Amino acid sequence: MKKISNIVFSAFAFAAVGCASTTDTADAPLKDVFDGKFMIGSAVNAHQIAGHDSLALDIVKKHFNTIVAENVMKSGEIHPLKDAYNWAPADSFVNFGCDNGMFVVGHCLVWHSQLAPWFPLDADGKYVCADTLRCRMRDHIHAVVGRYKGKVKGWDVVNEAIVEDGSYRKSPFYEILGEEFIPLAFEYAHEADPDAELYINDYGMNVAGRRDTYVKIVNDLKSRGLRIDGIGMQAHIGMDYPDLAEFEESLQAFASTGCKVMITELDMSALPTVSRSANVADMVDMKQVVDPYPDGLPAEVSDEWNARMLDFMRLLLRNSDNISRVNVWGVEDGCSWKNNFPVRGRTDYPLFFGRDYQMKPFLGTLSAELAKK
Ligand code: G3I
Repeated sequence: MKKISNIVFSAFAFAAVGCASTTDTADAPLKDVFDGKFMIGSAVNAHQIAGHDSLALDIVKKHFNTIVAENVMKSGEIHPLKDAYNWAPADSFVNFGCDNGMFVVGHCLVWHSQLAPWFPLDADGKYVCADTLRCRMRDHIHAVVGRYKGKVKGWDVVNEAIVEDGSYRKSPFYEILGEEFIPLAFEYAHEADPDAELYINDYGMNVAGRRDTYVKIVNDLKSRGLRIDGIGMQAHIGMDYPDLAEFEESLQAFASTGCKVMITELDMSALPTVSRSANVADMVDMKQVVDPYPDGLPAEVSDEWNARMLDFMRLLLRNSDNISRVNVWGVEDGCSWKNNFPVRGRTDYPLFFGRDYQMKPFLGTLSAELAKK
């Protein structure tokens, strides 16, 4: 019942307000719909790559021409011990992408989260010295990028390095190496695969402080003659953030560096914004805040969600000359990280396909609009 109520609400509500998806284009492969605009794809997870969700893989094969590894290539997963790699899941991911002719993206080489615990630490649990970290970064990046040379076409080299005020995140990489950890990571990645595209990636890229620092970083990398091809705007957005004009200003600022812009982790929460710091236990009606729609979105919420996502996609389309790729951060709502963030046990509806594996109405509207052009 849960799945049917979800799709019935969405299709009916959206149709009812004159944004009906037209069936003749609603089912067109998205890679054809956006052909000539940007590549369109999703993140895929270990469960899907292992073949445990054939419906999800059917969607990926039909609709997408690019995929990115949600978790299997992060250092904590692929290089869990200093002298041990866990290649199998990443191999399956890369092989799936290559077998299906996709633009395969590796995520991510240098990130403070899901970082292999041993990576920045010595035997006593203290930060290693700069030389040791440089060697470890180089060895890790050469091993991972080198293994998939020619197969992985682009890499999120550094992820989430800058905080909102534009200063460097106090990650182990920054604490030990200072700002140099970023050029070093790009240098090592290029050494390992000179033909791979290299990206820097972050969330909250609409925020002026972060935007300005990334423009500086990218221009610095270029002035040093280091390869950087793209700036990734993750685009984990919600119904009330970010201001789309701010997002577009950042998109255009990044494009002005001469880099490609890519939307790397698109999802839009349909739920009320909850702060991680808020103690939801104190809230009068915690359920209403944490998991208000466990059995499907009410028509008006689904309609609002589809309308805002339509606005966001129209923003991307009018900037498509500067955008090379749009990846949603998951195939269908049920697999989204947003079901457990910022608090666990939510039922969110942030992606292009619902838990019923059906495309959401805004895509039919968008397909029809593009078909007319
Ligand atoms: O692999 C272990 C498994 O062995 C264990 O049984 C299970 C127990 O819960 O945890 C599994 O690890 C989980 C991992 O995803 C793989 O599924 C972690 O608990 C979980 O925290 C982790 O969440 C990922 C999150 O990054 C970690 O920060 C999400 O799936 C992933 O979507 C999310 O993706 C990040 C991007 O990489 C960077 N941008 C932000 C985005 C959202 O945080």
